[in-house]
Amino acid sequence: MSKHIRLAAAGLMLSVLASTNVYSAEKLTYYCSAQEDWCQLMAKGFEEETGIKVNMTRKSSGETMAQLKAEASNPKGDIWWGGTGDPHLQAAEEDLTEPYVSPMREELNDWAVSQAKSAGDKTIGIYSGGLGYGYNEDLLKKNNLPIPACWKDLLKPEYKGHVQMANPNSSGTAYTTLATIVQLFGEDEGFEFMKGLHKNINQYTKSGSAPIKAAARGENTIGIVFMHDAVKQAVSGFPIKVVAPCEGTGYEIGSMSIVKGARNMENAKKFYDWALGADVQSRSLEVKAYQVMSNKKAESSPKAPDLSEVKLIDYDFTKYGSSDERKRLLKKWDDEVSTLPQ
Ligand code: F6P
Repeated sequence: MSKHIRLAAAGLMLSVLASTNVYSAEKLTYYCSAQEDWCQLMAKGFEEETGIKVNMTRKSSGETMAQLKAEASNPKGDIWWGGTGDPHLQAAEEDLTEPYVSPMREELNDWAVSQAKSAGDKTIGIYSGGLGYGYNEDLLKKNNLPIPACWKDLLKPEYKGHVQMANPNSSGTAYTTLATIVQLFGEDEGFEFMKGLHKNINQYTKSGSAPIKAAARGENTIGIVFMHDAVKQAVSGFPIKVVAPCEGTGYEIGSMSIVKGARNMENAKKFYDWALGADVQSRSLEVKAYQVMSNKKAESSPKAPDLSEVKLIDYDFTKYGSSDERKRLLKKWDDEVSTLPQ
């Protein structure tokens, strides 16, 4: 074989290897549980900045937790970014995620770092947001319905078929709702509330923000969601009003974790550090993601819900993010609420 042919063959082999992604340094498998457009912005931004090819999957928080568990003996994901903190804490406790102390930590708010410390550094806070609900003003008027202001208003019989929330098994938003109601009213009264609410629910969706997107489209009247997700629809021009329930409400610490046994561990750490930067977090405003960011220098919008004006409960993340408690509450909801006739 001539020298030229040998060189050409070697070159061809290298390009075949590169196209089959044998070079792990060039890729990242990214599980995202925030809103789709933000997930994509992050994937594209990281690819553009580093040249690392990102393979993204968007699934709700509870679904991603279940996927990590199913893949534990042969992990496929590298990084899990976004989604409510409770399933990230559960993943940490079940040893599905990897401890990492980022040099970016000093730039973060205390609540983000506390989340990390409470989980042996296996997760960290990336944003925070308060729970509430939103309603379609036009549909409310059209159906002659009263304006709701409290959680307990949602039990009124006239709202039958007008309320939507996600399923707490798949959705972190809905699990936060269940845990919030239990913390606000106590477990017995809280479950009575969930049973009463069930009578008014028209559908349990898979994803947490779906109920307010349906309300924006005029297909549902009231959606139980994080307030920032309702604000996003209002700012986009839909007739959505946002409610911070009068009794008080819970909140999330949206989190990020590195998958234990990640095949592209160095790239996962690169993404982790990058995602904690102020500039990257400020880009959330491009997709109208109005959570409070964990980097102290990240920009916020005057349109974002002002959490200092909301009666927030002291949400017990240690308890409600623990594996036993999350499993117990979900089973109880499955057995005692979801099976009831409507
Ligand atoms: O990105 C929107 C958002 O509401 C986040 O604030 C939250 O962490 C996530 O979606 C929860 O999604 P889901 O309820 O589908 O798990």
